[in-house]
Amino acid sequence: MATVDLRDVRKTYAGNVEAVKGVSIAIADKALCVLVGPSGCGKSTLLRMIAGLETITDGTVAIDGKVVNTTGPAERDIAMVFQNYALYPHMKVYDNMAYGLRNRGTPRDEIDRRVREAAEKLELGALLDRRPRELSGGQRQRVAMGRAIVRNPKVFLFDEPLSNLDAKLRGQMRVEIKNLQRSLGVTSVYVTHDQLEAMTLADTLVVMNAGRVEQAGNPLDIYEKPASTFVASFIGAPPMNLLSLSQNGDGPALPDGAKLAAAPKGAATLGFRPEDAEATVANGAAHEGLSLPATVEGVEPVGAESFLYCAAGGGRIVVRVAGRATANPGDRLEVKAKPEKLHWFDREGRRVSSI
Ligand SMILES: Nc1ncnc2c1ncn2[C@@H]1O[C@H](COP(=O)(O)OP(=O)(O)OP(=O)(O)O)[C@@H](O)[C@H]1O
Ligand SMILES: [Mg+2]
Repeated sequence: MATVDLRDVRKTYAGNVEAVKGVSIAIADKALCVLVGPSGCGKSTLLRMIAGLETITDGTVAIDGKVVNTTGPAERDIAMVFQNYALYPHMKVYDNMAYGLRNRGTPRDEIDRRVREAAEKLELGALLDRRPRELSGGQRQRVAMGRAIVRNPKVFLFDEPLSNLDAKLRGQMRVEIKNLQRSLGVTSVYVTHDQLEAMTLADTLVVMNAGRVEQAGNPLDIYEKPASTFVASFIGAPPMNLLSLSQNGDGPALPDGAKLAAAPKGAATLGFRPEDAEATVANGAAHEGLSLPATVEGVEPVGAESFLYCAAGGGRIVVRVAGRATANPGDRLEVKAKPEKLHWFDREGRRVSSI
């Protein structure tokens, strides 16, 4: 049982580099919290402060309600899994997994029981006598997981543990990590810059930008209601289409004779997801919501679906269509979206609630 609470946590590195600028996150017992954001936004710094590997400039980190700011990493009862696995190359898999326990003076039969139990869970049973160089990337990753599991920690911390693996293996390991985390019921914080990994793993998703939390919550809620243009363009692939609105006498408007349902006051940017739009041959039929003349610039078939890249509304947009696209570059189409599928953002890029 463990909760992790961050209150207004800050980190300023030497040279006045403000890496984390006041982050508050409450992580429930047994939950998997994913920190996602672009390179340099402070994810690893935050994780290392939770682990005790980095000092905390200001604010508090509490585990199970107890502030641990000055507690050493070994006393925090945390296990961390890194991107580069950090396995000992000269040690067999068994010894790599047993190392931390031996260091703590755990009795030999207890170590043996825990290592074999973890190896069983991770399907590493047949590989215990191999050395890391004799393993595939995915197997090495599992050994790194095993080493974390045997310690039976209160909290798991993961820093981009899958980024060295190819796409297919990453997908498999993602499912394995999620299942393992669920079955072990260990509170976890997982850092990635991969939005798909973040969406699929997270119980709670925290989107970070430049040392701050942009939005935190249930991943699908964030997908459906991004709080800012930053989140809208970071979560989802391809990202949400964003078009700048101009102000005319009637309020916010799009160029090019596009038709737009009444926009809320203060809206400066219109957003809609590629899958929430429909592209048809222009037929002049009445339509509520958005109706946008578009010129196809490129077509990307990916099998089950295709992406139409278009010039429209004074910018560029993507429309997702099921199966094979019949459109070709140069075609003129009409892109439509229902009023409830439109997102509005103000000049600062903050979400404006619909009218
Ligand atoms: N030891 C350090 N000294 C000074 N600045 C640092 C140090 N470590 C990190 N930084 C800076 O702090 C900021 C946040 O770095 P951090 O490693 O936390 O980012 P990140 O979100 O993990 O990025 P990535 O996705 O690339 O791993 C960056 O601007 C980085 O250059
Ligand atoms: Mg990092």
